[in-house]
Amino acid sequence: MHLDHAACSRQSTAVLDAVAQHARHEAELGGYVAEQAADGLLQQGRSVLAGLVGMAAADVAFTESASASVRTLVSRWRLAPGARVGVLPGEYWQNVAAFTDAGLTPVVLPADALGRADLAGVERALRDDPPAFVHLTLVASHRGVVQPGREVAALCRAAGVPLVLDVAQAVGHVDCDLGADAAYGTSRKWLAGPRGVGFLVLRPAVGTRLTPLVGPELYDDRPAVDHARWYESHDAHVAGRIGLVVAVGEHLAAGPHRVRERLAALGRATRERLDGRGGWRVAEPLDEPTAITTLRPPADVDVRQVAARLRAEHSLLTTAAGRERAPRELSGPVLRVSPHLDSTLEQLDVLATALAP
Ligand SMILES: Cc1ncc(COP(=O)(O)O)c(C=O)c1O
Repeated sequence: MHLDHAACSRQSTAVLDAVAQHARHEAELGGYVAEQAADGLLQQGRSVLAGLVGMAAADVAFTESASASVRTLVSRWRLAPGARVGVLPGEYWQNVAAFTDAGLTPVVLPADALGRADLAGVERALRDDPPAFVHLTLVASHRGVVQPGREVAALCRAAGVPLVLDVAQAVGHVDCDLGADAAYGTSRKWLAGPRGVGFLVLRPAVGTRLTPLVGPELYDDRPAVDHARWYESHDAHVAGRIGLVVAVGEHLAAGPHRVRERLAALGRATRERLDGRGGWRVAEPLDEPTAITTLRPPADVDVRQVAARLRAEHSLLTTAAGRERAPRELSGPVLRVSPHLDSTLEQLDVLATALAP
């Protein structure tokens, strides 16, 4: 029973088939010929992905993961050493590591007790001492709370500070078309695409501030490609990208609004069943519109051991999320439960009983 889609979703049969079929095409036609033959499909996928974050097909680069996207962004932006990046206290640890590795200084913006941005405080911080950009993780890995992305985008726009959104846990899950300047994420979570594929979407105004490692000036004959394509790897798992394109097509066909509503309902059903069960406490508000629920353990209960027991004894897949993911916000590990459209209320009942027979 997969209640772990915030880690990695199950791919549909159509996605699995599309990936396998492209791999076969590569063997039959040659890798680069097969890629060229799939160009129209890849471009359609760019268009749909871009639409999910309110940008255009030309703004999309396929990458290898969300982390690869943010590393590309900060390394190619080449901001002055020590330039400040505004983040919330619960920022994902690996993003913080990418910023510091690029010589940037994360500065913490104010948030409430749940970790949600304090808009008045953010406005003040942007006015008094604006950072080079604000980086907002719309839905965190360690807590299923949605940040007020549209409001933060408006504050950033008013202050002239670019906003970058991490939508790794948000795309295919909550609305990500919020007016950001750049957004990045991954295929394998709520879009239910293959692993090893991600995306980085940049408005042209951000694109003009970046310098690609290999750009048009290094070519004898400047190739005419869309601006974001300079940030794609020269070689890549193209079959995986095609899988992502099919997955976003399925998401669109299912209706993003309907998917969001169903995921929010599953989140609520999870919290209703689990809060207080055997002494476990839900961190999110009951009606937070996400399908991610995190549970704080009763005293002296080892979350990792419980996750291992749920898997071994009940075939239930969950995540034990360690404190390292958001050390400023978590006081210890939490058990993360994340159903998707293929999950059932009966599975949630099994989990509730397994937590406290
Ligand atoms: C909020 C958030 N950002 C970034 C990442 C990193 O994504 P990836 O593993 O695709 O690099 C994750 C992965 O769990 C995540 O939850």
